[in-house]
Amino acid sequence: MKILPIVKIPNKILRKVSRDVKKEKMDSSDFRELCDNMAFTMVEKDGVGLAAPQVGLNIRLISVNTKDGPIIMINPKIIKKSLLKEWGEEGCLSVPETFGKVKRHKKVKCSYLDINGKKNTISANGLLSVVIQHEVDHLDGVLFIDKAEDVKNIKNF
Ligand code: CO
Repeated sequence: MKILPIVKIPNKILRKVSRDVKKEKMDSSDFRELCDNMAFTMVEKDGVGLAAPQVGLNIRLISVNTKDGPIIMINPKIIKKSLLKEWGEEGCLSVPETFGKVKRHKKVKCSYLDINGKKNTISANGLLSVVIQHEVDHLDGVLFIDKAEDVKNIKNF
């Protein structure tokens, strides 16, 4: 496995709406390798999540870290969200040395295809809920700084 280079702002790749991954693509060894490398890169860079645009690909693919290790979510879709929202501090590997407070749904339910193309859903709260919302935003060209308040650059600290 290898560490993939991270795309950073102001690269336009981060601002595009990504397209769904096609079923036939999922069977290729290249695609599996990409998934492995994304999970590996996320862990090596101490990220809690990583979206494909962050490695230069505008496809709907994310990796999120859970207490049981990384999971790959293909074509993730948030199908349910709590009315209740909560503020939390966020950062992003594509927006270096920057943090800010973002209001997110406290709980979300997300459907996705796993690495074998099998349909799955996950119900998340706490940090995982925040991470899923943050990563799915990436697939729509949205960055946390678009929504954040009290944005701080740690270089100015
Ligand atoms: Co991010």
